[in-house]
Amino acid sequence: MSDKNQKPIILTGDRTTGPLHIGHYAGSLRNRVALQEGHEQYLLLADLQALTDNSGDIAKVRESVLEVALDYLAVGIDPEKSTICLQSHLPALSELALLYLNFVTVARLERNPTIKDEIATLGFARNVPAGFLCYPASQAADITAFRATLVPVGADQAPIIEQTNEIVRRINAACGMDVLPEATPLIPKSGRLPGIDGKAKMSKSLGNAIRLSASTDDVRSAVRHMFTDPGHLRASDPGQVEGNVVFTYLDAFDEDQSAVEDLKRRYRDGGLADAKVKDRLFEVLETLLEPIRRRRKEYAADRAQVIEMIRQGTARAREVTDQTRADVMSRIGLFRLDK
Ligand code: TRP
Repeated sequence: MSDKNQKPIILTGDRTTGPLHIGHYAGSLRNRVALQEGHEQYLLLADLQALTDNSGDIAKVRESVLEVALDYLAVGIDPEKSTICLQSHLPALSELALLYLNFVTVARLERNPTIKDEIATLGFARNVPAGFLCYPASQAADITAFRATLVPVGADQAPIIEQTNEIVRRINAACGMDVLPEATPLIPKSGRLPGIDGKAKMSKSLGNAIRLSASTDDVRSAVRHMFTDPGHLRASDPGQVEGNVVFTYLDAFDEDQSAVEDLKRRYRDGGLADAKVKDRLFEVLETLLEPIRRRRKEYAADRAQVIEMIRQGTARAREVTDQTRADVMSRIGLFRLDK
């Protein structure tokens, strides 16, 4: 089962609830482009997980599948190196999730800090969809079905991986052998990118995101409206760099970090206008997004080709995940019809 020549397996994914933004790029996509070299990488279009809090808008979940796939391709995910696959078309994930639900308690799910936060943010109480409360078990199925040992995710997802590993230990105990490996989260050092309004989270639903598919005009307008230092009224005033979104983005995206340090010094000293720093950021973001935008358009023009790519990726993923499902089910001690 474990082959020494085998590259480490990575599984990560995104809920299909809309196009991805530059926060996803800084936090994860950029990393995945690098990781597809030297790893066996699977990217899951998590449409079933998207449904856990979007059952009232299935059209959005459906239509976002291609949007997210286009974002992957546009940033440089190479379908020859990474496998892009669709969750709802991988039945082993659902079967394993249903099995795993017997190895977690409602109390433990409710205690998961990520779930707790999200339930509060979404305003759920007892009316939380059961699928939402239980999505850590489903995500555990996603991860383990691929036997992934590395899971690149944002810091907010670490408690889900922790819970995955608890489930892995229980399943292994029930099977009497290590049928599943534990997984390690790969969390980016730079924290989460704030929204253009300075709020802690960049999110499409908060309207403070810059999409990877944003037009030049969208980028210009986002930068113009971007939160800076509210105390920096005149260019001549000394300004604050910490919590100043323009500088946070320059830190995240400017290739020339010594130029950024120089700008910071001049801003702190006073005498550097917000507009000047914003001009720099606009240029940096355009340099990043222009090729992404161009590639995205090319792929979007051939929808059938993108669908075929997902179909092939899903077929490959199906072989791997069906095998894991069969291994777990045959070892866990349920009745067997094959012997
Ligand atoms: N919950 C993840 C998010 O919201 C998306 C996801 C679904 C995922 N399945 C996964 C991430 C498996 C890592 C591994 O970002």
